[in-house]
Amino acid sequence: MGWQYLIPPASQITDPKVFQQRRRLLQALPLAGLGLALPQLGQGSEACPAPSAAHSIVPPIAEPASPITPKKYATGYNNYYEFSTDKEAVRILARRLTLSPWELTLSGAVAKPLTLDLDAIAKLCPVERIYRFRCVEGWSMVVPWQGVMLKDIIALAQPLSNARYVRFRAIVNPKEMIGQRHPTLDWPYEEALRLDEAMHPLTLLATGLYGASLPPQNGAPLRLVVPWKYGFKSIKAVQHIELLTEQPTTTWQRAAPREYGFYANVNPEVAHPRWSQRREVPLGQSRKQPTLMFNGYAEQVAHLYQGLDLQQHY
Ligand code: MTE
Repeated sequence: MGWQYLIPPASQITDPKVFQQRRRLLQALPLAGLGLALPQLGQGSEACPAPSAAHSIVPPIAEPASPITPKKYATGYNNYYEFSTDKEAVRILARRLTLSPWELTLSGAVAKPLTLDLDAIAKLCPVERIYRFRCVEGWSMVVPWQGVMLKDIIALAQPLSNARYVRFRAIVNPKEMIGQRHPTLDWPYEEALRLDEAMHPLTLLATGLYGASLPPQNGAPLRLVVPWKYGFKSIKAVQHIELLTEQPTTTWQRAAPREYGFYANVNPEVAHPRWSQRREVPLGQSRKQPTLMFNGYAEQVAHLYQGLDLQQHY
């Protein structure tokens, strides 16, 4: 079954009013900065599949269909420990970060180590995706991302046949990121995926949010988005991607190994040691809703974990 058949059109699965509003919003925005409609990005060219509603994915598992979270919540309530543990202070503090020039390096078990700047990334096939996002703390949102599929970036470096894992490393800049002046976490913030998870078409390197450039507080200029995993896997301000032959540890595993595992797949059946993961509160709402297995993306990703004990590999 082809990938496109797994993804119902967003018009069928998102509240039609929300879908139409979104389309109007995207049409009204100037093209510059959108990262998804400039001709040189290859949209409509033979090299890139034409972006279509089929690229906007909120699987039809919750009734009524989940509305998009108002932008003010997604951009005003942020986890970004390099700045602060105060979620509402991050938006202001993150404005200090210098976002350009920015380079992304790919190294390790690859045939072609390389360095990409933001212009090179903007030339890759653009995608727009509406995804659920579930934080391990129990809040959630539904947001429209723009960016590229991570697999397109990794492919440029030509992974060696023994590459199994991918490690991501965020920026270190204590001068501009005041939270990094304290050992709140073991800096730099690091995350990792199995190579097959990293190459999955749902996994994005995002450059935009709500049709505009990614705001600093959401991880500009480049952040990972892995919608079936808890939000801490979606590392912000990525500068290094390294392919590895052995499974690495991650920042949160090192900080609290009993609480945060390597996989961190959203799973209502596996409680956090200090709270249940059965329910979540959508940002901007007061009523809890059930948390879905793999955050609603089971149809697309469950096969990756066949034979793996998800209670053990949390
Ligand atoms: N990336 C970096 N570099 N530093 C962080 O502190 N926090 C993570 C993740 N990525 C974090 C990070 C956590 S815990 C969450 S829930 C999400 O970012 C929050 O993303 P958002 O602010 O865009 O909602």
